[in-house]
Amino acid sequence: MLNTDKFFTPLSIKSGELFDYLNEIVTHDKDLAWETHLGWDAIEVDSNWIQKDYALRSINKLQPIKQLGILKTPPDSFYQFHKDQYRRSTINMLVSEKDAHCFFIENRNDGYYSDCAELMYEPRTYYLFNNQAFHGVTNKSEPRYMFSLYFENEIEYSDLQIKLKSLIDYDPNIVKPINNYVGVSIPKF
Ligand SMILES: [Fe+2]
Repeated sequence: MLNTDKFFTPLSIKSGELFDYLNEIVTHDKDLAWETHLGWDAIEVDSNWIQKDYALRSINKLQPIKQLGILKTPPDSFYQFHKDQYRRSTINMLVSEKDAHCFFIENRNDGYYSDCAELMYEPRTYYLFNNQAFHGVTNKSEPRYMFSLYFENEIEYSDLQIKLKSLIDYDPNIVKPINNYVGVSIPKF
């Protein structure tokens, strides 16, 4: 079985109100001031969420965050396989999609195959994302909205895994949980 840790790593610590907020604002897509950013339509998300969202606040303490945003992928498209020009690593969380798929590939150097893994985004879940591994996105009938961020300083994915280990392994039962959402235990903001 392919080890997908080299491509992406889910954080155990989940998103609370931010996830609902993001889902709400993308319902107003037409009213949002989208700007083109490396081929994506993008909007900035209020940086106050870095303190309001428990997970982001925790991430920010370990690896300071510069900027939050939503990236939009148009329907009936394939964002070609690439390594990011600038970003070494990031944190992504799916806001909404229909029939969209994010794949990572790594050449096996056998003349034929690449390793291939899909990042199957779970709701309210943040993923460490290796922007320096080849990745691409297919999208079908609806726009796909992805929450993403820039760190203050770029950091290699493997170093980010080490820095955020406590959040990858985070056990909400250690902290007395308050169940704001069915099936997800998160501490109060
Ligand atoms: Fe990318």
